Amino acid sequence: MDNRPIGVFDSGLGGLTAVRELMRLLPGEDIVYFGDTGRVPYGNRSRETLEKYARQDCRFLLGKNVKRIIAACGTVSSVAPHVLKALPVRATGVVELAAEAAARITRNKRIGVIGTQATIHSGSFERHIRDRLPDAAVFPQACPLFVPLVENGWIGRDDEVALLTARRYLMPLKAAGVDTLILGCTHFPLLAPLIGDVMGDGVALIDSGREAAESCERELRRDGALNQTKKAGELHFYISDRPQDFTKVASMFLGREITGEVHTLDIEQVDRPEAGTVRG
Ligand code: DGL
Repeated sequence: MDNRPIGVFDSGLGGLTAVRELMRLLPGEDIVYFGDTGRVPYGNRSRETLEKYARQDCRFLLGKNVKRIIAACGTVSSVAPHVLKALPVRATGVVELAAEAAARITRNKRIGVIGTQATIHSGSFERHIRDRLPDAAVFPQACPLFVPLVENGWIGRDDEVALLTARRYLMPLKAAGVDTLILGCTHFPLLAPLIGDVMGDGVALIDSGREAAESCERELRRDGALNQTKKAGELHFYISDRPQDFTKVASMFLGREITGEVHTLDIEQVDRPEAGTVRG
């Protein structure tokens, strides 16, 4: 038994789609979430910057005495997996598990991957898919405009702008005949119904955050590291800036009202001795 919380981070609020899955699977676990809302988006940053951000985000969560870390960010998981591997606690990204699921599920070995520019440019999903299925044909597509669409709540199946954008990005993947599509960015599950409409019934959508949450559950059970105090788990929420409409957008990602206090911190200060100091 291990009653310490699970730490989850993302560039912003997209990682809450993974938290939603964690809360469903492990309702007794405490979760510390850090959303780097002051520095979002990560998806078009350089490798050096992403490595620094990933280190700082993890350092903050380690300061909260977490037992596991989930990098619920396709971009960090793709560009800075070595930062996660070097941590003193087990840390999971969202790439390997989603690639594994895709390799397992595909029937025609034609797999699409959508994510941020940095994720797609890194080739991370392709590499992990080919490790498991060497003869797979992988079709990567960066979909940067999906991120602001989701953040503005333009996610309805009948939203004309979202539909046009999705058609433009996804038509080449549909034409390529993929039967499996990895949602390689934690923002994208909110667009899943619309993406499903564009891709058609025969295409399986893989939610990379959900795969990571399910794997975390399996590992905690296997290791006997669940929180067994039988109470309802708490969500401790930290962000690096309070954006407009924060509560509305965060609740949309989490799939429920945000209750409890949301702390704002200066993540650049995490390297200093007073690491993790909360501003407000
Ligand atoms: N949630 C981030 C990811 O999974 C995307 C948003 C961003 O560009 O920061 O890659």
